[in-house]
Amino acid sequence: MAGKKVIITGVPGVGKTTVINTAMEKIAAEGTPYQNINFGSFMFEVAAAEGLVQDRDQMRKLDRTVQKRLQKLAAEKIAAIDGNVIIDTHASVKTPNGYLAGLPEWVITAIMPDVLVLVETDNDQILVRRLSDESRVRDMEGAKSIAEHQEMNRAFAASYAMLTGCTVKIIVNADFLLDKAVEDLTATLR
Ligand code: AP5
Repeated sequence: MAGKKVIITGVPGVGKTTVINTAMEKIAAEGTPYQNINFGSFMFEVAAAEGLVQDRDQMRKLDRTVQKRLQKLAAEKIAAIDGNVIIDTHASVKTPNGYLAGLPEWVITAIMPDVLVLVETDNDQILVRRLSDESRVRDMEGAKSIAEHQEMNRAFAASYAMLTGCTVKIIVNADFLLDKAVEDLTATLR
């Protein structure tokens, strides 16, 4: 299918949605349109319709098999979308029973991304951002635990590159340096 497929990942609260939204405006102004697809929203639509959850933060607590079914349904819908696409999702999801691959083989090979982006920043900055974001029900965890999740995401990203031949781009979204992260992502989208 025509178009560039860019998957954007990062631990909750790293600011990936903020970076994506600003980069989308810049790239559209340059005349390169992208559709912004939120993988979690596709999953949530089905989960809410089935009465499984009331909000998106409950999804990562669902039974593993249910989460996998929701992932598959989302992947099938997303794979059918034509043109330049940004997919806002997770390299891995921290569930009560361990890390769940956000893009297992049957998901990543359905999408076949050109690039997989990891948005990262300092663990303490993520902790503070989570504490200040009252719109979400964030899992409370310390900086060490956030560090482990960011490390795990790099490992998952490498396996996705092995399965699809996509490149892996690391973008740092540091405090006071949102503009730099946006410029890095815009350059990746061009
Ligand atoms: P999702 O919708 O991706 O939610 P999330 O992980 O909580 O991510 P957010 O978009 O809310 O946070 P963000 O990191 O983008 O931060 P934000 O820009 O808001 O996923 C929801 C659920 O769907 C998941 O929990 C999971 O259950 C499920 N799901 C999704 N994909 C899945 C998959 N593939 N497989 C299985 N399940 C899946 O920013 C946070 C804060 O930081 C804001 O206050 C912002 O103002 C601030 N900020 C941002 N940048 C900066 C900066 N540079 N300096 C200072 N502050 C900043």
